[in-house]
Amino acid sequence: MTTLTTPAVARSRAELAGLLAGRGTVVLVPTMGALHEGHATLMRIARERAGVDGTVVVSIFVNPLQFGPGEDLDRYPRTFDADLALAAAEGVDVVFAPVVAEMYPDGVPHEGAVSEAVTVQPGPLADVLEGASRPGHFRGVLTVVAKLFGLVRPDVAVFGEKDYQQLALIRRMTTDLCLGIDIVGAPTDREPDGLARSSRNRYLDAEQRQQAAALSRALRAAQARASYGVPAARWAAMSVIKAEPGVELDYLALTTTGLGELPDYPEPGTEGRVLVAARVGATRLIDNLPLQF
Ligand code: PAF
Repeated sequence: MTTLTTPAVARSRAELAGLLAGRGTVVLVPTMGALHEGHATLMRIARERAGVDGTVVVSIFVNPLQFGPGEDLDRYPRTFDADLALAAAEGVDVVFAPVVAEMYPDGVPHEGAVSEAVTVQPGPLADVLEGASRPGHFRGVLTVVAKLFGLVRPDVAVFGEKDYQQLALIRRMTTDLCLGIDIVGAPTDREPDGLARSSRNRYLDAEQRQQAAALSRALRAAQARASYGVPAARWAAMSVIKAEPGVELDYLALTTTGLGELPDYPEPGTEGRVLVAARVGATRLIDNLPLQF
């Protein structure tokens, strides 16, 4: 029988520094907790990259700076004991779970609030899609990720492709600010009916859970029609969304792999991405898949 070792838990920067001294290859998996099978996949990739001598660090921090007014910061699920058990099962060495004041000692520098804090200003890629629907969101994400990178000093960091735009922006930040960290993107983990695993799925009641599966069906419909061009692929995806009245569409976008604009009829073989955001009841869900034209 395998014995599971509970990861060491660091609540402060000093505790974290103590745990990481001389720890070989360090691989970071940043999360906001409420861990599920999708996170387990990220941790497995991290364990493999760290090897037996390296250190896998999972951070658990619900970052107030990336939540806008009226979003779900207060009700975001907090399930620390279960998170720790999952991290133990995946061979994680260190869980870094700071309180807000540890990450933002001078207070959270919310948009419009008086603050002298330096934050990360993302480029224009942060203004479209999620950024258009959630102003300031990516400034919050990049700022906390930069802080985590500074505190953990990882060699490698693993993020899910479900947050495709987030992953693209983190790659961009890492390159543009010369952070020298290898950013690994992990394919989205899915329920048997195709729904992307997400901490927010637990907000859905049974009926909404059924309705939510329309998102991945729509993405697959776009994939299946991509060889007929963008209008046909978009139409196929929209037909699936429209057939599910419980789904209130925010956006459906067909883009280049870099989230740029596509011509209606890309050269055969061109790769792209289809991304969707929608509300099911009060819950906002996102998903995306690759396209091949
Ligand atoms: O993807 C998430 O869970 C968060 O946006 C992240 C990267 C942990 C930053 O808070």
